[in-house]
Amino acid sequence: MRDQLHVCHDAESLAVHARNWLVRLMNQHLASSQRPFSLALAGGSTPKRMYQLLAELPAGEIDWRRVLLLWGDERNVPCDDAESNFRMVKENLLDHIAIPAENVLPVPNPGESAGAAADAYEKLLKQTLPTTGKRALPSIDCVLLGMGADVHTASLFPGTIALSEKTRWIVANHVPKLDTWRITLTAPAINAANNVMFLINGAEKQEALDKLWHAAPNPENYPAQLVRPNPGQLWYLLDKAALGNTKLPESLIAQII
Ligand code: 6PG
Repeated sequence: MRDQLHVCHDAESLAVHARNWLVRLMNQHLASSQRPFSLALAGGSTPKRMYQLLAELPAGEIDWRRVLLLWGDERNVPCDDAESNFRMVKENLLDHIAIPAENVLPVPNPGESAGAAADAYEKLLKQTLPTTGKRALPSIDCVLLGMGADVHTASLFPGTIALSEKTRWIVANHVPKLDTWRITLTAPAINAANNVMFLINGAEKQEALDKLWHAAPNPENYPAQLVRPNPGQLWYLLDKAALGNTKLPESLIAQII
């Protein structure tokens, strides 16, 4: 399938469009499948407004009883830490929706051993998610991703060990430039998803987007280049500021929203 690009006017219209896109995707799934919709949430600041808009939906727009929420990556800090992606989602979404506790699958016990947290998370996801392909990777219905100005995504940072992982679903990843540990979905796990959606806004991401799309293949330095879902669909939802004057790859089907 060809990659899809939606370009929105600004950050707010991007968050509204992304929310509407996600609701449509979820409800299309729920209308045709008995299986719950699995959604891997992105951390950082970009998705926050979309989470708020999801939380503001009238009750019943989404049947949260049939949605599983997991985290595409997490900082190795306690769940109530200001840096925690779980805490960011809790404050902007979980505290405002009627979702059964058993449907919320954060990384277990981050903040102590990142390795132990990653192992526990992988075990939990393997008990929960369907698998796909010869390598029995997780069949996640939608993985949301942000992208840093250094072209990292999830917690797959340039020059880090996790970039070469070929079989595991979740790994602990030491990030020297941040002097910290992260827990993250691996590239193979992301690429096994049915839908992968990059949500990117702001002029500060223009250069990273250009490298992602037009630099020679160099995933060691530009990890977001590893994201090539197959047979799943890759989506880019950007605002005009993030796109700037970057030339669109021939392969993209682009829509100006
Ligand atoms: C995290 C994210 C990370 C994020 C990018 C973009 O834990 O920080 O998972 O990959 O998506 O760093 O962050 P912003 O959305 O804040 O620019």
